[in-house]
Amino acid sequence: MANAERFIVQGLEGKRTLEGELQVLGAKNAVLPLLASAILFKDGIELSNVPLNEDVKRISEILEKMGVVVTVSNPGKLSINTKSIDEKGTIDRELAKKIRASIFLSGPALARFGRVTFPKPGGCVIGARPIDLFIENYEKMGATITTEGDEYVVTTDGKLKGCHIFFPLQSVSATETFLMAAVLAKGKTILENVACEPEVVALAEYLNACGAKIEGAGSSTITITGTGLLSSKGEIAQVIPDRIEAASFLILGALSAKQLKITHCRPSDMRVVIELLRKAGVDIEEGKNSLTVRNNPDKPTQYQGFSFRTHEYPGVPTDIQPQLATFLTQAVGESPVFETIFEGRLNYTTELVRMGANILICDPHRAIVKGPTPLEAEQIDAPDIRAGFAYIIAALLAKGYTTIRNIYYIDRGHEAIESRLQAIGVDIRRVADTPIV
Ligand code: EPZ
Repeated sequence: MANAERFIVQGLEGKRTLEGELQVLGAKNAVLPLLASAILFKDGIELSNVPLNEDVKRISEILEKMGVVVTVSNPGKLSINTKSIDEKGTIDRELAKKIRASIFLSGPALARFGRVTFPKPGGCVIGARPIDLFIENYEKMGATITTEGDEYVVTTDGKLKGCHIFFPLQSVSATETFLMAAVLAKGKTILENVACEPEVVALAEYLNACGAKIEGAGSSTITITGTGLLSSKGEIAQVIPDRIEAASFLILGALSAKQLKITHCRPSDMRVVIELLRKAGVDIEEGKNSLTVRNNPDKPTQYQGFSFRTHEYPGVPTDIQPQLATFLTQAVGESPVFETIFEGRLNYTTELVRMGANILICDPHRAIVKGPTPLEAEQIDAPDIRAGFAYIIAALLAKGYTTIRNIYYIDRGHEAIESRLQAIGVDIRRVADTPIV
């Protein structure tokens, strides 16, 4: 799947001539835990503003293999019926290998069925991405862990026991997974040193609207009182806007647009990126649910470089690091980039250097981007979702036609991206990836 297709993108050679509007879709990293939370419901849930990207399709397929009925009713609406869910708690091995978010399902499944089997999850290769926090804390909640081949088998006699968990680092998926598991656990669970991302808050708010008792989401400590299976009672989970997609569009617009309006977004979720770009000289107008970036194509602003480090929310999201580093290839000066979250998340820079960028890798976590440098078209392979989008930005900056392969990664995080970009003037085409003979 990863090599089936490629994008061909015509470069603008630094001209900033794109024009129009891009609508931000629902957040991938908000909808995936919400889909997993359906297992906590006796009847199921309804969701709206759902991005129909590849990750949503994969998680839906895993749920269907668990006996759940998933229906896409019309663009952006998805309903899940769990009345016929089977009690085996098996997370499909092949599908789970494709997506890290499959780990979200393990918490609700273990809590509901007293048993779950799952492989070490797959997904973006941006580092080792261990799951030690899950294994350790399932045991702390009373589960027994064995392995069968490369699969974990986790079982509990009766309910999981509520307990006090202190996470040694803020993990988004561990926070969300244990928040969900604790809804069906016996007694109270305290989660300390949790992730504070907007997607965590959105998950807790929806579950509370359906009868859960979750306090403190968005702060560093969340307390959950076990309540048993939930019922949606008609409450619809409205997926929050994708702050990473919005920030990616903002960076694309800053570098290549005369005027780009980004709609259906939440500027308050992306404050640090907006401020960094403004400090670099980007003209950004902020609306209630929109951002507009402008350039004078005849006298384009020469952006100033800056240093940044990725950090848990509300710091600079690691998911926007490749896009920001690509921006810095066009900014004046030497800009230090410090990727604090994933040790493999600077690997993508090799392809930018092949295009002409001046990027010095100091160690697995640090790089120095020197700009501005002209970029030349190349054939490059997307290594993950976010670097894949950064390559679209780089291709637009380049001279000539760039080929981006492995675009399944981009489709994992951005629904119908080429038609959306074509609408603002991008010459981007999806072609079958004929093997080089
Ligand atoms: C979520 O991944 C996101 N994915 C990632 O987005 C995002 O980059 C990441 O959070 C950080 O914000 C989804 O929400 C589906 P973590 P997650 O656990 O939860 C270490 C994208 O492009 N860790 O917060 O897997 C881990 O190695 C994706 O949309 C352990 O050591 O990330 C990392 O260094 C990419 N042991 C740090 O924690 C564990 O058991 C934070 O990772 C779990 C995590």
